[in-house]
Amino acid sequence: MNEKINNLMQEVETLAVQTKEQVEEYRIKWLSKKGEVSALFEDFKSAPSDIKKELGQKLNELKIKAQDKINHLKEKFESAEGATANAADLSLPGFPTLQNGSRHPLTLVKKQIIDIFSRIGFTVSDGKEIEDDWHNFSALNTPENHPARDMQDTFYVNVNPEMVLRTQTSSVQVHIMEYQKPPIRTISPGRVYRNEAISARAHCQFHQVEGLYIDEKVSFADLKQTLLYFAKEMFGNDTKIRLRPSYFPFTEPSAEMDISCTICKGKGCNVCKYTGWVEILGCGMVDPQVLINCKIDENKFKGFAFGMGIERIAMLKYEIKDLRLFFENDVRFLKQFTSA
Ligand code: DAH
Repeated sequence: MNEKINNLMQEVETLAVQTKEQVEEYRIKWLSKKGEVSALFEDFKSAPSDIKKELGQKLNELKIKAQDKINHLKEKFESAEGATANAADLSLPGFPTLQNGSRHPLTLVKKQIIDIFSRIGFTVSDGKEIEDDWHNFSALNTPENHPARDMQDTFYVNVNPEMVLRTQTSSVQVHIMEYQKPPIRTISPGRVYRNEAISARAHCQFHQVEGLYIDEKVSFADLKQTLLYFAKEMFGNDTKIRLRPSYFPFTEPSAEMDISCTICKGKGCNVCKYTGWVEILGCGMVDPQVLINCKIDENKFKGFAFGMGIERIAMLKYEIKDLRLFFENDVRFLKQFTSA
């Protein structure tokens, strides 16, 4: 009997099987009611009493070992099966209920602005977000003591030499005029930064689109017609515009442009503060000093420029009341712009 136990013990220890079914076969062979271990327990009953204690211990050890072995092998095959079942089946067709992502509303509006101006010959130019003092301020005729340079408004990246996070996309105008000969007709969309407290109406980062047209006979009438075309394309054919005199260091004369309120159509509501008009951009004729700063012949060439906030246009277009929504990336907000 002792030998039988030893042989079975060895069989248990060295068992190697290939399938789950083989494991089951061995379970039956060893551990079922009619199995070999059970048979040994039967024999044990009639074993001589002087070796019963030792034999009993051995037999118990064999039973535990055999059970452990079977359990271990069973688990091994089951987890391998699970892994195969969970592996991605790359041959499956696309899942039809997967949700489409959506473009950010600012991307949508930026794209629309680009489309509108490219239809009348404007190219798109890119600029840098970290600018030197010359391109962000000096070349644009912004005197050293101008409030826009105040530490309150501008994020300084470096003090000497002075580098700033650009406060306006007008800086791209300067780069373009420095390296490109007129005629120039371009828009420059991009992100700008100002040191402002964040609220529903202001943020420390936002987006602008700058427009620039330089040629021999550019007039204020060209500026007005270009902007009227833009307003109608963007907000609908019955949109009206009005230009109010204003001041910008880099344009002379300067103006701000209002459009008839898109919400109440000019009748008066809380968006237009019951005036029927909402301001959407600044514009003007490029100051000859700016042309000189950029080494363009100010006697031969003239130009107009304009600058608008993309958030402002998007807020009017989609009736969004809080600027912060653009930067929070809340999917409940973004989902509303899913296109078909
Ligand atoms: N850069 C101005 C701003 O950030 C906007 C602007 C006004 C741009 C008039 C222009 C312009 O090109 O002519 O407030």
